[in-house]
Amino acid sequence: MEKASKKIAAEKIEIGLMEKIVSLAKRRGFVFPGSEIYGGLANSYEYGPAGVELKKNIQDEWWRVFVRERSDMVGLDSSIILHPKVWEASGHVAGLVDAMVECKACHARTRADHLIENYYEAKGDKISVEGKTEAELDAIIQSEKIKCPACGKFDWTPVRKFNLLFETHVGIVPEAQSKVYLRGETAQGIFISFKNILDSTRVRLPFGVGQLGKSFRNEITKGNFIFRTLEFEQAEIEYFFDPETTDWKELYEKWKGDMWKFATENLGVNAEALRWREHGDEERSFYSKRTEDLEYKFPFGFKELWGLAYRTDYDLNQHMKFSGVDLSYTDPTSGKKFVPHVIEPAVGINRLMAMVMLDAYTEDGERVYLKLKPRLAPYKAAIFPLLSNKPALVEKARAIHDDLQKRFSVAWDDRGNIGKRYYAQDEIGTPFCITVDFDTLGVGEGDAATANKDTVTVRDRDTGTQDRVAIEKLGEFLHGKIYR
Ligand code: GAP
Repeated sequence: MEKASKKIAAEKIEIGLMEKIVSLAKRRGFVFPGSEIYGGLANSYEYGPAGVELKKNIQDEWWRVFVRERSDMVGLDSSIILHPKVWEASGHVAGLVDAMVECKACHARTRADHLIENYYEAKGDKISVEGKTEAELDAIIQSEKIKCPACGKFDWTPVRKFNLLFETHVGIVPEAQSKVYLRGETAQGIFISFKNILDSTRVRLPFGVGQLGKSFRNEITKGNFIFRTLEFEQAEIEYFFDPETTDWKELYEKWKGDMWKFATENLGVNAEALRWREHGDEERSFYSKRTEDLEYKFPFGFKELWGLAYRTDYDLNQHMKFSGVDLSYTDPTSGKKFVPHVIEPAVGINRLMAMVMLDAYTEDGERVYLKLKPRLAPYKAAIFPLLSNKPALVEKARAIHDDLQKRFSVAWDDRGNIGKRYYAQDEIGTPFCITVDFDTLGVGEGDAATANKDTVTVRDRDTGTQDRVAIEKLGEFLHGKIYR
């Protein structure tokens, strides 16, 4: 068992896997290039009919596990456009910056850290330039004479800091006073609602607030599919606690365990493709006591999937300073008044989705299928009439489809032959294919026809085996297999 899974893990990290996933994602309606009919828009994507279901299932799973099924968590849905002071207080106006260079010959812009790291990687070396100043990055580019990857020239502007927050204006006059930002993270919405949550609910420390929603960053970088995009769905938790009564190290380890369990059990990802990486002093924010990234082995290397940071009481203190509003907590038993500390697990749903698709991609001889956890699959079952030109088969299959559709997300296919339909559903990751045949109608040949009346074949995506299941038991059958 152990050996087999290692072999699969090794096979998966093969060259070309990313290209295969990008192509499958477009072919089967998961992810389309952004604004494609206008020539595309870098680092933006559209989620197609299968993609939106998969993304929503991952979101729902996150919400179920981390918010709804925990008595120490509540949820929040704050605005995308917040008061501009929020982002001054949080440090994003000054600090959410990338160091960029522009090629004077072809005007391609690139992140200086990516330029340097890719240059060394191509030479077979691995370096990290995290935390280096603009001058230090400049010095490396100049001393190594790193050429522009787009045009091959060596003619760079000096490294300049570039803010990732998207600016826009409220109202019709684009004056400085009307300037606002699209949120660069969902986390700040939680801090600014902290007092209202305390006042409107019965939460007591330790407790967490979870939020799911879009964040926006002006990323000028090679996006690697949906790994890094201009807008993305963030799922963040701020877990508040009293540092005098809760051991932060213990709490931190507990969150690490919960994140790992979610990735491996709820999302079903191969544990061997995951690892923890602790931020060094240069990389970690000055207010954080510990930050670690849960990394996944993407085809372009181990990269951050999910961050875990102990942010102390920094954010609440900053918002108290900038707003003048008291955001402290009063312990209802002891009367002690203090500013809680916070541990923050922060992840991007789109990045989780990229990981889930890559990890589920399986080649078995000629067969390609997405071995998705049935709970995550865009469609739980696909329903086919054996032949599309036999009205009695189509009518029966339709009735089954319409009935199951009330409980599950299901697909319909009556094109081509059954083999082609299996092929398409395998690539989408549909765990069960249900076929209505002549036996179902009780008009087939031999004794089987009578015995199989009002049953259908149910074909399992992973094993390819087929069972006959009574139509009246189909709902129960699927429920048992999917939500067991
Ligand atoms: N509140 C902390 C915070 O936002 P972050 O490391 O910048 O921390 C958290 O982002 C997570 O959000 C990342 O681990 C990643 O999964 C996701 N993320 C960040 N930027 C992203 C982008 N441009 N595209 C897709 N996902 C992104």
